[in-house]
Amino acid sequence: MAGGWYGIARKLAFTLDAERIHRLSMTGLGAWSKVCRVDLPVDDIARDPALARTVCGITFPNPLGLAAGFDKDAECLPAWTALGFGFVEVGTVTRHPQPGNDRPRLFRLPDDFALMNRLGFNNHGAEACARRLEAWRRADRVKVPIGVNLGKSKVTPAQDAADDYAFSFGVTADVADYVVVNVSSPNTPGLRDLQQSAALSAILDPLQNWNARRSVRRPLFVKLAPDLADEDAIAVARLCAARGIDGLIVSNTTISRAGLVGPIPDGSGGISGRPLMERSTALLSLLKADVGDALVFIGVGGVFSADDARQKFAAGASLVQAYTGFVYGGPAFPRELLRGVRTPQPSSSSLSSSSVVA
Ligand SMILES: Cc1cc2nc3c(=O)[nH]c(=O)nc-3n(C[C@H](O)[C@H](O)[C@H](O)COP(=O)(O)O)c2cc1C
Repeated sequence: MAGGWYGIARKLAFTLDAERIHRLSMTGLGAWSKVCRVDLPVDDIARDPALARTVCGITFPNPLGLAAGFDKDAECLPAWTALGFGFVEVGTVTRHPQPGNDRPRLFRLPDDFALMNRLGFNNHGAEACARRLEAWRRADRVKVPIGVNLGKSKVTPAQDAADDYAFSFGVTADVADYVVVNVSSPNTPGLRDLQQSAALSAILDPLQNWNARRSVRRPLFVKLAPDLADEDAIAVARLCAARGIDGLIVSNTTISRAGLVGPIPDGSGGISGRPLMERSTALLSLLKADVGDALVFIGVGGVFSADDARQKFAAGASLVQAYTGFVYGGPAFPRELLRGVRTPQPSSSSLSSSSVVA
């Protein structure tokens, strides 16, 4: 699959700056979003009834989502549907629009089938994201569930983090199908400290109070870092379960450089892709074993193939997401993976490690 036209396009694209190519792709996908087909035919693998599932009362046409960070500002929602994704998580958005960190800040690690980023939540702000999402909905171009992932603005001091999340929740919850509290990006100083019990409770409680006042509550997820010690991750999971949070997204990128075989770019940044698969899946399995059905799990980190997705499901995930696998696999990635998931034979995925072209 990635050996076809996309294999060639990718080789060319990989010679150019990663963020520039991402921006160019988003411009193209944004234009396509105005005209692409979003009512997929019933014989499309992305609409195979055997792949549909209901999680937190939301019907997902298939269990593969586009992970947060790819379409931060909800620019191309119809395109993701047309490509076969069963849901999309937009964001991370913050209360205040912000430019993110200095460039360069996005790197490819082709020898490791990985990416490294220190983008630092570049986004147009929660209000702009909500407006765009609402406009897509009004135009009847949203056909899959949309999650909105929220983070803390860089200018907001840690002690005011809860207000920041509450503001963003207030403006996005009505247009989202689910909302994610992201306290796990390594690229905003101090953000991951918000995974500690007191800080996390201070963020989650006002959102749950808002939920309690509504006739229809908005499912709430917390996204975790893979670098938490096991006992700390378990403490977060138990706190979330006790607070009535719906689920966990496991996991964000890692600050670990362990196991990388190719050249590593200088500086800080989170690693995504294949090197993350083992730890993020082990963490998912650990937390599922601890909290059982008290929380729903979305598995993310290193999903490149149907086999990878199956491993996440076996570890306890109800849904999976991918970012880096899509970058390496290209436009055919969602349907290739879904076809493999639908036909549960290990050899059925054309995106197995050996077939991904470096
Ligand atoms: C360039 C880039 C930007 C990302 N931005 C965000 C983000 O804004 N918010 C977030 O929660 N996760 C973000 N992520 C993390 C992904 O959503 C995902 O958790 C992680 O990349 C692991 O999945 P993968 O191995 O399929 O890429 C980003 C990842 C990458 C590679």
